Amino acid sequence: MTRRQERERAMGFKLLFVLTCFWVYNPIHVHATTNDKDVSALNVLYTSLNSPTQLKGWIASGGDPCGQSWLGVTCSGSSVTVIKLSGMGLTGNLGYKMADLTSLVELDLSNNNLGVGGNQIPYQLPPNIQRINLAQNQFAGGVPYSFTQLTALRYINLGHNQFSGSLSDIFTDLSNLTFLDLSYNSFTGNLPNSFSSLINLATLYLQNNQFSGTIDIIANLPLKDLNIANNHFTGWIPSPLLKINPVIDGNSFNNGPAPPPPPYTAPPPPPGGPKVKPTPSSGPPSKKSGLNGGAVAGIVVSFLAVGAAIAGIVVIFLRRKSSVFSRNQGSEPDEPLTPLASNEFGGSNLKSFKIEAPRSSLTTSVSLKPPAKIDPYKSFDEKDLTMKPILKKISFSSINVTCYSVADLQVATDMFSPDNLLGEGSFGRCYKAQFDGGKLLVVKKISRTALPNQSADDFAELVSNISQLHHANLTEITGYCNEHGQRLLVHEFYKNGSLHDFIHYPEEHGKSLSWNNRVKIALGSARALEYLHETCSPSVLHKNFKSSNILLDGDLNPHLSDSGFADLIPNPDSQAAEETSGYNAPEVAMSGQYSLKSDVFSFGVVMLELLTGRKPFDSSRSRAEQSLVRWVTPQLHDIDALDRMVDPGLKGLYPAKSLSRFADVIALCVQSEPEFRPPMSEVVQALVILMQRANMTKRALTGDGPDAESHDFV
Ligand SMILES: *[C@@H]1O[C@H](CO)[C@@H](O)[C@H](O)[C@H]1NC(C)=O
Repeated sequence: MTRRQERERAMGFKLLFVLTCFWVYNPIHVHATTNDKDVSALNVLYTSLNSPTQLKGWIASGGDPCGQSWLGVTCSGSSVTVIKLSGMGLTGNLGYKMADLTSLVELDLSNNNLGVGGNQIPYQLPPNIQRINLAQNQFAGGVPYSFTQLTALRYINLGHNQFSGSLSDIFTDLSNLTFLDLSYNSFTGNLPNSFSSLINLATLYLQNNQFSGTIDIIANLPLKDLNIANNHFTGWIPSPLLKINPVIDGNSFNNGPAPPPPPYTAPPPPPGGPKVKPTPSSGPPSKKSGLNGGAVAGIVVSFLAVGAAIAGIVVIFLRRKSSVFSRNQGSEPDEPLTPLASNEFGGSNLKSFKIEAPRSSLTTSVSLKPPAKIDPYKSFDEKDLTMKPILKKISFSSINVTCYSVADLQVATDMFSPDNLLGEGSFGRCYKAQFDGGKLLVVKKISRTALPNQSADDFAELVSNISQLHHANLTEITGYCNEHGQRLLVHEFYKNGSLHDFIHYPEEHGKSLSWNNRVKIALGSARALEYLHETCSPSVLHKNFKSSNILLDGDLNPHLSDSGFADLIPNPDSQAAEETSGYNAPEVAMSGQYSLKSDVFSFGVVMLELLTGRKPFDSSRSRAEQSLVRWVTPQLHDIDALDRMVDPGLKGLYPAKSLSRFADVIALCVQSEPEFRPPMSEVVQALVILMQRANMTKRALTGDGPDAESHDFV
């Protein structure tokens, strides 16, 4: 808000105050002073906490948290700045609107029972938060990578929860962080490289987890207090840390004399960030203008090193040019193209992928098999890897879509103005962009964390692969930008937004989707997946099929987005919580085993959303109804139960037969055994028949509104 707006707003409040003075004797006329977004975020927080009666003043809809002094809420002007509800016996979760609390600087919900039942911290968090305390709760899963954006953070306490999996590289931009407590959880894996960016970290508590690897990465942080007891750390304690008397028992450190200094003196810079942050131990820059002998020697050595590096790059480049696709098939960059042992892509290996490991490319998530001999029940492990892929590694010059400059996209998005922000997906933010001639497109700004360790080459390959996917029900990429380390993609703008928003916030469209449109959207999305799975060779896994990735054009035709991004999807343990929970097949949730059949499962979940109008996971509902799949599946063959579960937004306007056939398809897709789920081509066929029947009973499928078509159904 500009100053002027602020002033005008303040004037407005004064006027309001004067007006209310006339009515002051009648309490009904008290006007709300809290701004609307904060109110609605607190309403959602309240219901997500299962509407606890102990929260005096709080209500589920409307109200005035600042004016009415809701328990634990502190405001500044009309904005909520602090929420402190420690030790209140709260359950549930934070809800999906926390990101709307743009003025919130402190959130303390410690010592409650939040997350009980395996819930994760939601992805949406207050963007300007400085202190977050969720200690002593029951949160599970990983730390959402939306933390990467919370650059104002000074204090994070997630101790005494049930977090698990490895920590992703979330610290790169958290240079103001002074306190970090992750103790008493079940974190595993190495400390991520971005730890080295925590240049103000004074307190670090990691005790009682299962972290492994060395602690070299934290050697040069300005720590005053360090507890890493009871983990699986190995190596040596870096000497700078010995001085602060760290608590280190219960690890497997070497007792012998520490090896020579090199490993400790220069922790590797955070991945993806070319900028080198000053470490506190580095002294002030030398003011001497002349060069001493050491400096000259240093420069000579640098030249030699740069020369060697260039030579290395040239060699790698030449060798890469000769290998077509092989680079993707493992850590060996120059391996010739050979059939792979099936265990290379087996579930257990996938599970062990670490966020900080260099990403292998598309092929890891692709099954190589000819469309001609599809075995519908083939699982991920058994695929035929002998076929040569059609998609090839390509440099930017051969990519057939527009190359934009950062400046182009800045102009088109009004400097990535928040007003143009369409949403935040798994890989970054999407902005509406207006180009010359009024053409509307969407710019997806891929966040640095989504592409750790990615070279321009890798990005070229990603863009190239995506740009070769063509289907009426996919979002078509029309351009990209690869400048100044920025990675952006440009695709069509779809007028009706995401299916997720259309289903769950129909009021924004002034209507809810008619039954026929729901069937049409299911069919179109099924066709998109069928294309990726069965027409593309090698098959393309989506891995992230969900209603927020289905975009609807002016005619409500679906367009699947984020296709070809599969290998950027991290291990589900560490994936942002709410986002995927509810869509993943049981084998993915348990062991990260993605396959064509796990996509089919996710497709079934989206069909369930279309049928019920409910979210796949909704913590505001009773325990039995939180997981949509678990709640609905046992009732899918019960016609009376179906009638009760169907989206109330349909107002009863659907043909019972069509509904029950739709439910039959869902039942096939969401079976817990992957091998029993049908291939997408069968799903498409079933939906085509459903659609044809609907057309026979209806003259034309034109009705967009529920009223237009309902009575035409049998
Ligand atoms: C980090 O702290 C400094 C000093 O208090 C402050 O000026 C700066 O705005 C902070 N950074 C962020 C991203 O909040």
